[in-house]
Amino acid sequence: MKTMIVCTSVSHGNTQRVAEVMGRVLQARVVAPEQLDPAELSECDLVGFGSGIFLGSFHARLREFVRALPVEPRRSAFVFATSGFPDAGFQKFSRPLTGLLEQKGFAVADAFSCRAFDTYLPFKLVGGIRKGRPSAGDLEAARVFAEGLRARVGTES
Ligand SMILES: Cc1cc2nc3c(=O)[nH]c(=O)nc-3n(C[C@H](O)[C@H](O)[C@H](O)COP(=O)(O)O)c2cc1C
Repeated sequence: MKTMIVCTSVSHGNTQRVAEVMGRVLQARVVAPEQLDPAELSECDLVGFGSGIFLGSFHARLREFVRALPVEPRRSAFVFATSGFPDAGFQKFSRPLTGLLEQKGFAVADAFSCRAFDTYLPFKLVGGIRKGRPSAGDLEAARVFAEGLRARVGTES
């Protein structure tokens, strides 16, 4: 199963840590959007897209990368994020990226998110929130998530 993980992690490397755990399970290269020839994704059975959440959205660099992809028949994708607050409620932040990926031809298999050190301005004043996260438990949850994907998507490809 050919797998790639596209990750933008600019604030504290939080999402990169999660991506690397997933990458080990899925035997996937973890790359920044700028380092990747988009044509490489056409050959993948599974592609992960992840970043921190900034003012309610995935990082602009990741979103722009996905927006510029051509529409073509594609295989599976997953999205993942680290953020101060959960991906929940009416304004789920994973929904727009999932929709965009589906427009590009991907079948989005699943989404993962975990809490992470957050120094958005109001919280910076108090030294940030969610210190120490992603924790060992968060990284273990990422590993289990990736194993589930490998089992599900691997048997389809
Ligand atoms: C300017 C800024 C805006 C942020 N906006 C949000 C937000 O809207 N919701 C949220 O849950 N976390 C928010 N965060 C927290 C980041 O999503 C979190 O720190 C994330 O783990 C950063 O990932 P990275 O270290 O991989 O870049 C924000 C952080 C910064 C610095």
